[in-house]
Amino acid sequence: SDSSNFAVAIDGPAASGKSTVARRLAERLGLIMINTGAMYRAIAWATIENEVDAADSAAVLAMLDKLEVTCGVKDGTSTILIDGTDPGDALREDAVNSRVSTVAAIPEVRHLLVEKQREYLKLGSLVMEGRDIGSVVFPDTPYKIYIDASEEVRLARRSAEGLTDVVSKRDEEDSKRKTSPLVVAEGATVIDSSEMDIDEVVEAALATLRTQGMND
Ligand code: DC
Repeated sequence: SDSSNFAVAIDGPAASGKSTVARRLAERLGLIMINTGAMYRAIAWATIENEVDAADSAAVLAMLDKLEVTCGVKDGTSTILIDGTDPGDALREDAVNSRVSTVAAIPEVRHLLVEKQREYLKLGSLVMEGRDIGSVVFPDTPYKIYIDASEEVRLARRSAEGLTDVVSKRDEEDSKRKTSPLVVAEGATVIDSSEMDIDEVVEAALATLRTQGMND
């Protein structure tokens, strides 16, 4: 492990554009890109595959005891395998969208995945996107950005992608849960992307990171 490795935390609600910004930042800065939403989605996907009720936390945990959750990196981006299988595009399906916040509210699920997220720092410096990266996973990093956008804009962005997602419902559940809810982390800078295009958000994020002490 190299103690000079650092993490850039990118948090925000669903469809705020944070994944695109995080990917572009990782490219620009030469960092490993870690998508933590995919990890929660993979667990939600596994509940469907194993016919486990996502709301039955004891059953979800019993399922996790029997499964191997393997987190890795390929081509500079995080990967996740469930018992050796990459769920692929299935992670974006409605069935996953409708269960993922329920699974993500289970404290033991969060504990397991947060450990795996922190382990990624051994591999190199990271851009990590999610909901609790600046607040819980890497609270000590100086590099924290919260990407926001109005609800109207977020819904429009999702439907432009041709996806029907329960964005508002997920945000409500993600913000209200007891264990590490979606919050603006202490020390984070909020970028409201509602009126910006992606290049403008990336530039604003880079400017923010410089203000937070990064020399790129
Ligand atoms: O980023 P995303 O929309 O793919 O995330 C899917 C869900 O996973 C999100 O609705 C809540 C959960 N999540 C979380 O609780 N904590 C994270 N760090 C990332 C995602």
